[in-house]
Amino acid sequence: MISICNKSVLGTVSEKDIEALKPQALAAAQTLEKGDGAGNDFLGWLHLPSEITAAELDDINATARQLRQECDYVVVIGIGGSYLGAKAVIEALSDNFAAYKQNEGAKVVFAGNNIGEDYLYDLMRLLEGKRFGIVVISKSGTTTEPAIAFRLLKAMLEKQVGKAEASKLIVAITDAKRGALRSLATQEGYKTYVIADNVGGRFSVLTPVGLLPVAIAGFDINALVAGAVEMEKAPADMMVDYAATRNALYQAGKKVEILVNYNPNLHFLAEWWKQLYGESEGKDGKGIFPASVDFTTDLHSMGQWIQDGERTIFETVITVERQRNEVVIPTDNADLDGLNYIAGRRVDEVNKMAELGTRLAHVDGGVPCMLITLPALNEKYLGQLIYFFEKACGMSGYMLGVNPFNQPGVEAYKRNMFALLNKPGYEAQSAELAKRL
Ligand code: PA5
Repeated sequence: MISICNKSVLGTVSEKDIEALKPQALAAAQTLEKGDGAGNDFLGWLHLPSEITAAELDDINATARQLRQECDYVVVIGIGGSYLGAKAVIEALSDNFAAYKQNEGAKVVFAGNNIGEDYLYDLMRLLEGKRFGIVVISKSGTTTEPAIAFRLLKAMLEKQVGKAEASKLIVAITDAKRGALRSLATQEGYKTYVIADNVGGRFSVLTPVGLLPVAIAGFDINALVAGAVEMEKAPADMMVDYAATRNALYQAGKKVEILVNYNPNLHFLAEWWKQLYGESEGKDGKGIFPASVDFTTDLHSMGQWIQDGERTIFETVITVERQRNEVVIPTDNADLDGLNYIAGRRVDEVNKMAELGTRLAHVDGGVPCMLITLPALNEKYLGQLIYFFEKACGMSGYMLGVNPFNQPGVEAYKRNMFALLNKPGYEAQSAELAKRL
């Protein structure tokens, strides 16, 4: 089981401060269970792991197998919650150089998570003449970024293989009834999966939104869900510790939480976590700012700030006990690089000492530090970690006094963008902006 340790925050907040918040954390957990808090129409994720049926998983695995067999590339189109969970899990489990290797089965590539013209151009050149499929994911079915990518790639696929064949290579994951993508999928006869009304985007990684891309990438979604079920069934202690500790630190003036990893595979897990906590807590003028760094890489860029900058930060370090592979540092007779003192030791031993040394230095520098330990980086522990962060997020949001399940602030940029693009229906805003500019 994954675990948490908050011992290294005790110079900044006391055990008493944390204990004082635990009843609130427990009450928040109960509010989630009872379903009588703010945003209670978005609690579908709470028992999702234990409610997914074997038949549903079989169906997702079968679709993934078919796409893996028929395609060299599967483009997963989506943004925000319709992108980051799948990307996080796939990156966490992948060979770091998979993109450069000729593996069996389809390679998963992502689109619709930006509006970069060169990105789309490069992707289309990559796909030219290749066997490719598309998984298009949008809960609302109307988000601009994925809609643009889908329009381009759908046209390209239809040109390459014909409309009938293309419709067999496209899977849509969207709302059961509403939205442009649902209408299009029905009209074109795509295979579809539903994102339930009561599951918000950033809590959707354990639905087909995350599971289908992860299965296409060749990973074991049954083990991922089984890990999440273990955390769902476990007592809430770990979530209570995390939620109470981070809120105690926030109240003590620590406004920024930095999620730290020492494993390049975890970069996108932090991106997923930032969305989960940022969109859930950052509202009503409140909320811990979620940031992230990849160590030791960023010790050579952000390390100075973290060690010596403004003391408003705390760290949550994710550590992985066992690596998947072993690399030992060789002896060199000349020893010109002076590394023989670590010859014969594993690279991970050096990484772990860098981690320990950094944690001690940061604590000494006034940066309190929580530690989350994964015994290994595999599907089961990732499933546990995902569910742990989701539930602790709901609890933390309630402790902060916000609705953790809405994101009204995301609409502001969209309104301006639509007005600037003269979208029908935005005439008044277009005129207003024209005056300002
Ligand atoms: O968490 C959320 O709700 C958002 O990040 C959405 O996932 C994101 O905006 C994409 O929305 P949609 O799936 O409707 O295209």
